[in-house]
Amino acid sequence: MVPPTRAAALLALLVAASSALACGPEAPRPAASERERVLGPFLSAHWRIPAGPQGPRPSGTSEAVATLQPAICGACHPEQYADWRGSLHAQAASPGLLGQLIEGDLSRPQSHRVCMSCHAPLDEQQLWDSDLRPNARFDSELRAHGLLCAGCHVRSHRFFGPPRRDDAPTPPDPPPHGGFETRPEYHESRFCAECHQFFDDPGPTSADGAGGSKPIQNTYFEWLASPQAAEGRQCQDCHMPDRRHLWRGIHDPEMVRAAVDVDLLADDLGGETLRASLLLTSRDVGHAFPTYVTPRVFVSIHQEDAERHEIEGTRVAATIGREVDLSTGTEIFDTRIAPGQSVKLDYSEARVERAASLVGRVTVDPDFHYRGVFSYLDGSLRDPQARALNREAGLQISDSAYVLAEIRRPLPAAR
Ligand code: HEC
Ligand code: HEC
Ligand code: HEC
Ligand code: HEC
Ligand code: HEC
Repeated sequence: MVPPTRAAALLALLVAASSALACGPEAPRPAASERERVLGPFLSAHWRIPAGPQGPRPSGTSEAVATLQPAICGACHPEQYADWRGSLHAQAASPGLLGQLIEGDLSRPQSHRVCMSCHAPLDEQQLWDSDLRPNARFDSELRAHGLLCAGCHVRSHRFFGPPRRDDAPTPPDPPPHGGFETRPEYHESRFCAECHQFFDDPGPTSADGAGGSKPIQNTYFEWLASPQAAEGRQCQDCHMPDRRHLWRGIHDPEMVRAAVDVDLLADDLGGETLRASLLLTSRDVGHAFPTYVTPRVFVSIHQEDAERHEIEGTRVAATIGREVDLSTGTEIFDTRIAPGQSVKLDYSEARVERAASLVGRVTVDPDFHYRGVFSYLDGSLRDPQARALNREAGLQISDSAYVLAEIRRPLPAAR
């Protein structure tokens, strides 16, 4: 029998949810090759997830620490704990994920484990063990913490972390939790790649055949080709500045505003035809903006009246994002902005007499794709608990879209 893989999980999902796909990441986990080449020996083993059982507690580790509960880590590492709690990693065992793992094909042990691997990667967080039997070590409280401290820092009760800071104090003696091993990989982009990049997976082919193909999740390789990578800036430099554990991304308007410039260039606003363009520049995003197939960025220009109401029929709009159709394995469009590049939306429309301003607007919907998934599942899930979780997921994202920028250019009084 062919062992179920991420691809099989995806297929199951397509069957369950027709064209609505839950999440991009279901490429088959490759045996060797590209993944091992990029990750290297330490990370290849570290990120074989779901991880193996921690095993017996060594004598240097207290019983409390051995529970791997993040609050215990937080007692001695309060800054990391406070940051992590507000991050999406801490919320990765989300209702949107768990709601899909209760009924249908994704509830089968193997698919369940595949989906959990990135969202809650430890053995002790799995309902099913690697033999696909009920996991005797399953700890539901631990699972609820999603991608927790130990998911990145602990294997077999051994602790791993980045190289010490130059000004770090000497660790106490005896060291807590039996000491720790420092690894340079913690400050390298490839540390993040297992969950944010598909390896050995060609991905969908572009519909016009011109763009070739690329994996559905391609963040690491997008980064590798970026000017930021050439300057030696890693994922951590932008997403964990000063080693903070916030991982702010597209859900955070300030993070996006600090990296993407928006301008409304007025070429001619004095005549009967208004000519302008909205310019978006990815000044400091270290991969495509946005990097995933799940968000959408909507750009538009319209005329509005003196009461700031949009005047119907004056809008010109475009969508930035990447749309793939997994049932046919094709990419419908990819209008994302490469690092350092700009896109321009041109406006050349007749002026409406009562127009008072021309408005350029950029709206970001970080959860565009999941809106469709959750609403589709609302009509197809049968299990009451699955439905309730899915509803909760829908509510969580109900107001996550935001206006990134809105720029007004007043128009001269019409003659
Ligand atoms: C009793 C206090 C205590 C507890 C509980 C504790 N730690 Fe530590 N940990 C320390 C001290 C002290 C050090 C060494 C000095 C430092 O880096 O703060 C350390 C070092 C580390 C390092 C290495 C940092 C580096 O410089 O590379 C990591 C990673 C780490 N701890 C993670 C954890 C995790 C994850 C947990 C929970 C499972 C945890 N710790 C629980 C006290 C503790
Ligand atoms: C390779 C790692 C990986 C695997 C495997 C994976 N995910 Fe995800 N998932 C992610 C990442 C990264 C995000 C956030 C980016 C995005 O929006 O796609 C995410 C986001 C999501 C979200 C939206 C955010 C939320 O928590 O509500 C859902 C729902 C989800 N995944 C469900 C699933 C399901 C179901 C499976 C199994 C079919 C799965 N994931 C497998 C990495 C993974
Ligand atoms: C997604 C993986 C991930 C998770 C989850 C995570 N960390 Fe880290 N942690 C890292 C990485 C990567 C670094 C190194 C960052 C760098 O060097 O820029 C780090 C650094 C650290 C350090 C060293 C900080 C310093 O200033 O030298 C400590 C201590 C630590 N983490 C503890 C924790 C604790 C406690 C938690 C949970 C509350 C946690 N981490 C959750 C990935 C993670
Ligand atoms: C030069 C800074 C920079 C670097 C380097 C960088 N990022 Fe980002 N990243 C951003 C900014 C800014 C955003 C918000 C805009 C966006 O979503 O593209 C972002 C967004 C994201 C998102 C949100 C999802 C999405 O669709 O955009 C993820 C996930 C992410 N980054 C992961 C990574 C990983 C993994 C790496 C390393 C391989 C990395 N980033 C390197 C700046 C950076
Ligand atoms: C074990 C898998 C795993 C690892 C390793 C990992 N992530 Fe994530 N990351 C996820 C998942 C899953 C999500 C989505 C959580 C959700 O919303 O349900 C996520 C979300 C994010 C987001 C938020 C994106 C948004 O939509 O705003 C950023 C930024 C991010 N990760 C950056 C990083 C960086 C940088 C690293 C390396 C230091 C890293 N991640 C390592 C699994 C992982």
